[in-house]
Amino acid sequence: MSETSPAAVVILAAGEGKRMKSRTPKVLHTLCGRTLLGHALAAAGELDPAQLVVVVGHGREQVGAEVASVTPQARIVHQDQQLGTGHAVRMVTEAIGTIRGTVVVSYGDMPLLRGQTLRELVDRHHRAGNAVTVLTARGDAAGYGRIVRDGGGAFLRIVEERDATPEERAIDEYNSGCYAFDGTLLADAIKRVTTNNEQRQEYLTDVVDILRGDGHEVGTMLAADAGEITGVNDRVQLSEARRELNDRVLDGWMRDGVTIIDPASTWIDVTVTIGQDAEIGPQTQLQGATVVGEGARVGPGCLLEDTIVGEDAVVSHAVCRLAEIGSRATVGPYAYLRPGTSLAEDAHVGAHVELKKASVGPGAKVPHLTYVGDATIGAGANIGAGTIFANYDGVAKNHTTVGQHAFVGSNTVLVAPVTIGDGAYTAAGSAITDEVPPGDLGVARGRQHNSDGWTARNRPGSRSADAAERVRSDESI
Ligand code: UD1
Ligand code: CA
Repeated sequence: MSETSPAAVVILAAGEGKRMKSRTPKVLHTLCGRTLLGHALAAAGELDPAQLVVVVGHGREQVGAEVASVTPQARIVHQDQQLGTGHAVRMVTEAIGTIRGTVVVSYGDMPLLRGQTLRELVDRHHRAGNAVTVLTARGDAAGYGRIVRDGGGAFLRIVEERDATPEERAIDEYNSGCYAFDGTLLADAIKRVTTNNEQRQEYLTDVVDILRGDGHEVGTMLAADAGEITGVNDRVQLSEARRELNDRVLDGWMRDGVTIIDPASTWIDVTVTIGQDAEIGPQTQLQGATVVGEGARVGPGCLLEDTIVGEDAVVSHAVCRLAEIGSRATVGPYAYLRPGTSLAEDAHVGAHVELKKASVGPGAKVPHLTYVGDATIGAGANIGAGTIFANYDGVAKNHTTVGQHAFVGSNTVLVAPVTIGDGAYTAAGSAITDEVPPGDLGVARGRQHNSDGWTARNRPGSRSADAAERVRSDESI
């Protein structure tokens, strides 16, 4: 905790979010790799508060579980009935008592709010020595509480739109819903909030009026970017917020030296890391803990989840989950790397290849039409087109080992558990059920036998028989 970090950040997240029309509580909808609430918790975390408090109500089990997994140190306060923002904060002071020091209040549905903006609010609050500092914005104020000032421009109070006079509604400065409070003064004032308004709710905004009435300093900070404080209430706003946040993420990477060919069709989670000179092609999504190394090319058409891509690797038209791709390795087009796949440096996985729990050695190649499950492939091995690693016997998954520089012929079935030794070969079309020792050739298929004149006997007068007859008579001359 630094000197300026607040005593607490309180995030209000008890509301239902009716307009989402969803079984999922509003704050658990996701964008750019986090839930709405996850973004709020991340911004709050940047303040390094002594306490992080989340007020939950609707969907409290699910919302509580999200809080516990994202920020286990956070304290959860229940608000059984949503009787207003003031009531929500009163539940906090009743549950944990007076919080001495600065208390920041924010919402769980403002994913665009930057931690930096919250920091500036706290700094402003401290420097001015205010009892409360309100984060405000200017623009289209429809639906928001308006900031009412006196003739000299001094801040007076916040009036909710539904309680506002026509003159007040014309004000274009509005309340973000985000504040820095003196915790001791807040704990006292919150008890004095009434329900004397159109909604018969306890309004947190009334605390500002109460503090001013007591003769305390109240102040405001105008947000430089009003877009930061737009809340998400329905799925249209969710998609707008996602686009906005994604643009922010992409801009950041481009400024850090990453080429993004088509920002309009590229989606990158806030949790992803990308190295300099990497190039991200169109129609690509990078999700979760994905890391793209320097100089790597990913895309077009890739979906990477929790996947590590090494330096200078090339991945195109691929779906990869919990996979590791080594330096200079090439993947795709049309490859599917499932969890537990790891490709060493310079490995190659080509078209229509699926891998699962498979480790492919340095420089090894799996170029075409192949399934590799539960396998270890040695350095420099070549897996022929159409090879199937038959890892499942209907009961258990079994392992296959292919040695270094082994050569598996096209259309081989490797029936696991089985081992192909270093430098061994398998004949095309073999169904290999037994070990092929190092340096041996495994042949496991019927030897070819030609039935002389079969077509003439069995398909007399057919075009095939005629075609055969023409060559056979030529040959007999
Ligand atoms: C509130 C402000 C308004 C401001 C606007 C900014 C009040 C009275 N008004 O209005 O001045 O311009 O936010 O978005 O505060 N919540 C709870 N428990 C409750 C009520 C709300 O946890 O009992 C949570 C909601 O889940 C939501 C947030 O508080 O995340 C804001 O509540 P909402 O009802 O949307 O407030 P507004 O009426 O929009
Ligand atoms: Ca709202």
